[in-house]
Amino acid sequence: MDVSEEIIQYETVALEEVKVWHKVAKIGDFPVNGGACVLYKGMQIAVFNFSRRQEWYATQNVCPHKQQMILSRGMIGTQQNEPKVACPYHKKTFSLKSGENLNGNECSLATYPVKVEEGCVYVGFKG
Ligand code: FES
Repeated sequence: MDVSEEIIQYETVALEEVKVWHKVAKIGDFPVNGGACVLYKGMQIAVFNFSRRQEWYATQNVCPHKQQMILSRGMIGTQQNEPKVACPYHKKTFSLKSGENLNGNECSLATYPVKVEEGCVYVGFKG
């Protein structure tokens, strides 16, 4: 079997491109200053409750370095005011805003808009 056929191509969604706000869970379902993985149309999306900054972020859950489904369990932090997540495997770090690899340009993450309304968390998709 060709494993590459199974790899979903994740694509960043800009706020103005959102057509569907998918309700993923209640605020209380997410760890404080941590992430959780949610599913949408077969995609694994890491949603981060960055309580220290009072911000929410969403990215692809798969680390683009070695295709590990792990980023929701990565450590989040701030680097020069940029919110970031570090992959637990080889510690590559990515901006939670842009998905940019903060260690270099070799790979980056797709990011998704997040909104919180009436205690529920929504992630934005193109459809
Ligand atoms: S698999 Fe994430 S840094 Fe290597």
